[in-house]
Amino acid sequence: MGPTEHSGARALNVVVGVTGGIAAYKAVGVVREFVLAGHNVQVIATDAAFRFVGKTTLEAISRNPVYTDLYEGVAEVRHVALGKAADLIVVAPATANSIAKLAAGLADDLLGNTILASTAPIVIAPAMHTEMWQNPATVANIALLRQRGITVIGPAIGQLTGTDSGSGRMSESPDIVAAALALVLHGHDLAGKRILVTAGGTREPLDPVRFIGNRSSGKQGLAIARAAALRGATVTLIGANLEMDAPATMDVRQVSTTFELAEATSAAAATADIVIMAAAVADYRPQAVAESKIKKETQGDTLQLTLVKNPDILADISAARRPGQVIVGFAAETESDRASLLAIGSAKIARKGADYLVLNTVGWTEGFATERNTVIVIDKAGDIVTEATGTKADVADRILDLFS
Ligand code: CTP
Repeated sequence: MGPTEHSGARALNVVVGVTGGIAAYKAVGVVREFVLAGHNVQVIATDAAFRFVGKTTLEAISRNPVYTDLYEGVAEVRHVALGKAADLIVVAPATANSIAKLAAGLADDLLGNTILASTAPIVIAPAMHTEMWQNPATVANIALLRQRGITVIGPAIGQLTGTDSGSGRMSESPDIVAAALALVLHGHDLAGKRILVTAGGTREPLDPVRFIGNRSSGKQGLAIARAAALRGATVTLIGANLEMDAPATMDVRQVSTTFELAEATSAAAATADIVIMAAAVADYRPQAVAESKIKKETQGDTLQLTLVKNPDILADISAARRPGQVIVGFAAETESDRASLLAIGSAKIARKGADYLVLNTVGWTEGFATERNTVIVIDKAGDIVTEATGTKADVADRILDLFS
């Protein structure tokens, strides 16, 4: 994922606390993500942090002076001013030592004072060696911080500073920033909801090397699944040929054909409160799949394929829905005229029996594999309930707002 684009949401005052571990160099990425998303960032670094990352770098990237000394700016009572103005405090990286200090409520530096003087939500991104992360002292400190409402992001499992790998690697900057922003902007407003999302595009094999597919990248569906998880939902993602790093925050299942998607979706729908069918499903499949590669020599100048109709998953799960279960379909249409798009949408939602239909216009150059999207959401009556335009993450949040 690239740097978060400006989302157009309210600009927040974010304090990024940088403590002294090797992952401090990755704090630069965290600061940059917030700044590019349009937020005002004040970096507070500990003395130890400057052994790993330069003050000049942090000042240039944050576009603000970087503070570290409790005894500078005393006249303006800086720690209280920074703490009170903060909408959000993110400590990245949070070393084992800084976590212990936070748990004890120590205030022997500017960061500790600022945190104590603030009522803003606090997010920490731990980074340390596996042994330190698993040490009973750290485990107890983390449990205490969680109990106090502090959000802990990661650590991830992966390559550590040396040649070793394990749990303790700081989460990646976009993941830290997305989780922190979701916390402030939405809280955990989808907590307790079980959301099933399908994403990607199904493929119907012709022979062992070829398939009939579509151009869906799965980005919008994946953005919905990620946003739902950040907002506290329990998420199951069924990916049809989705190329992605499986997010640890959700249950991910991979499928390929429409039949596989149908089977996985109806099984998972049984326990879902909301089903969001963002996958692009092949309406037809080859009647016969060749056992070996189809050869030109045996086909001649033309090749005729007989396709047979696939099940309509959305219609089937809508028909089988439990009382209170909400079903959302998607329709990507090549119709760009708004009135015609809405007319197609109204007819389609009636045909499918879904509760909502998310409509967008696609074309040769529009809609697929792009970072942005424009959608209109209609209800059963064909009435518009939401319109959204922006990054696929923004659009995901607007769609999910319907269920919060
Ligand atoms: N869908 C489905 N099963 C299918 C086809 C589509 O579940 N066999 C779902 C898609 O996941 C999407 C919605 O139905 O949520 C609309 O898909 P779309 O392809 O636009 O609908 P179709 O019924 O195939 O209509 P069209 O003739 O426009 O292709």
